[in-house]
Amino acid sequence: MTIAVLPGSFDPMTLGHVDIATRAAKLFDQLIVAVAHNSAKAPLLDVSARAKLASGALQHLPNVTVAVADGLLVAFCRERGATAIVKGLRGGADYDYERPMALMNRSLTGIETVFITGDAALSHVASSLVRDVARHGGDISPYVPPGVVDAVAAAL
Ligand code: PNS
Repeated sequence: MTIAVLPGSFDPMTLGHVDIATRAAKLFDQLIVAVAHNSAKAPLLDVSARAKLASGALQHLPNVTVAVADGLLVAFCRERGATAIVKGLRGGADYDYERPMALMNRSLTGIETVFITGDAALSHVASSLVRDVARHGGDISPYVPPGVVDAVAAAL
């Protein structure tokens, strides 16, 4: 049984995240989407709202579950028996951002990070941009799963 964790802030979940989860779900027996705290970010949505939106967006994937991960990500991975962390890459900037985390997580526990290339058509989609578009009155519905538009609007 291979178990992987796909962690992130998911503030909010985008179609880019759904794309990566869908690809990862084909590679592992079980995929746990871990809604985690990034100490460098102040989230728009609280963690339970982020987890609820992620669950709704991924409910069609039978081997995918969503959980809130408090504390150190590698501790969460150990508790759940996960042997890999999955991250999506849109381009080189994402790799530069992810590489130190992958090295730190491996240094802490030996867990490997597996990078998946996302759909090129979604390479401009980022939670930070989605929030910014929404804040300025733009339509975010092309970039997010159903349910996210209203949740973001309510949180602004
Ligand atoms: O979507 P993000 O904000 O880029 O995800 C970053 C996240 C939440 C995966 C990262 O900040 C994280 O792993 N946080 C949990 C605490 C932790 O383990 N920090 C050390 C990371 S090397």
